[in-house]
Amino acid sequence: MTRQRGTLVLGATGLVGRQVVAGLLEAGAGVRALVRNPGTACLPDDVEVVRGDLGALGGPGDRGALRASLDGVEAVFLLWPFATAEGTAPLLDAVAARARRVVYLSSAAVREHERSVERMIERSGLEWTVLRPHAFAANTLRWAGQIRAEAVVREPYGAAAMPPLHERDLAAVAVHALLGDGHDGATYEPTGPETLTQAEQARVIGEVTGRPVRWEEISPRATRRRMLDLGWPPPVVDGVLAAQAALVTAPRAATGTVEKITGAPARTFRAWVADHADAFATP
Ligand SMILES: NC(=O)c1ccc[n+]([C@@H]2O[C@H](COP(=O)([O-])OP(=O)(O)OC[C@H]3O[C@@H](n4cnc5c(N)ncnc54)[C@H](OP(=O)(O)O)[C@@H]3O)[C@@H](O)[C@H]2O)c1
Repeated sequence: MTRQRGTLVLGATGLVGRQVVAGLLEAGAGVRALVRNPGTACLPDDVEVVRGDLGALGGPGDRGALRASLDGVEAVFLLWPFATAEGTAPLLDAVAARARRVVYLSSAAVREHERSVERMIERSGLEWTVLRPHAFAANTLRWAGQIRAEAVVREPYGAAAMPPLHERDLAAVAVHALLGDGHDGATYEPTGPETLTQAEQARVIGEVTGRPVRWEEISPRATRRRMLDLGWPPPVVDGVLAAQAALVTAPRAATGTVEKITGAPARTFRAWVADHADAFATP
């Protein structure tokens, strides 16, 4: 990394990580990415790619790769892709020994493993910022197959309401925290700019793509069965459905965090759909 302020991005090939990488490069930061498969990572040429598996940090190979990936790094974007905190202690030790700052992608749900990681980070001696985003706009991509095939969304809880967050806005907040000052010890809750029910989100997808999309309410029980058949673990299925049920009676309000941190208003759900219209379009 020849440029100043080297940053290591974990999860760089994912939805959020790719935008964090793009934002860092745009800001002129040096970027390194630790990825499982460099051959398929498809990251910009300016990114220094290091092979490593976060699920194998108990083994010397991947631990060594992690240490090497931290050489010359000042800040780390930490996405932990597992539903357990196991494995994060050696990771944070390595980060604290070499870097100065960590920005952790937690979630507004603050599940048990996320809270454990947050606590470890608070005690790590690093400068830290925790991001607890609310629902991603990209969650609606799970409807894409039904919309492409039949212009319909069959789901429960059409009245569940939340302010869907564009991944580029979440990444912009992360980049400010990674490169800027004044974010040490802060916990941010980024959201999109407006609260929409799930049925309204389906309607907006139809409006933007030019093919009306119908919301067809089905029972939570039928959805639970379908998700289990798809191989989702029962506690995850129950957690997702309970969270949606709660959003019917207690909708999430927008927080204004994106604009406060980045200076630019959060992108609307309509803008997010326009950026991803191909996913919903008929072939
Ligand atoms: N969806 C929501 O509404 C929501 C809300 C709040 C918070 N969040 C949080 O956001 C995070 C998900 O972000 P995302 O959507 O960007 O994820 P994503 O698109 O699924 O990407 C996951 C990333 O983790 C990497 N990864 C997976 N296993 C790995 C391993 N063993 N070693 C190294 N890298 C590995 C993947 O790399 P490969 O290319 O190798 O697969 C990929 O880059 C989760 O922590 C979630 O809790 C989500």
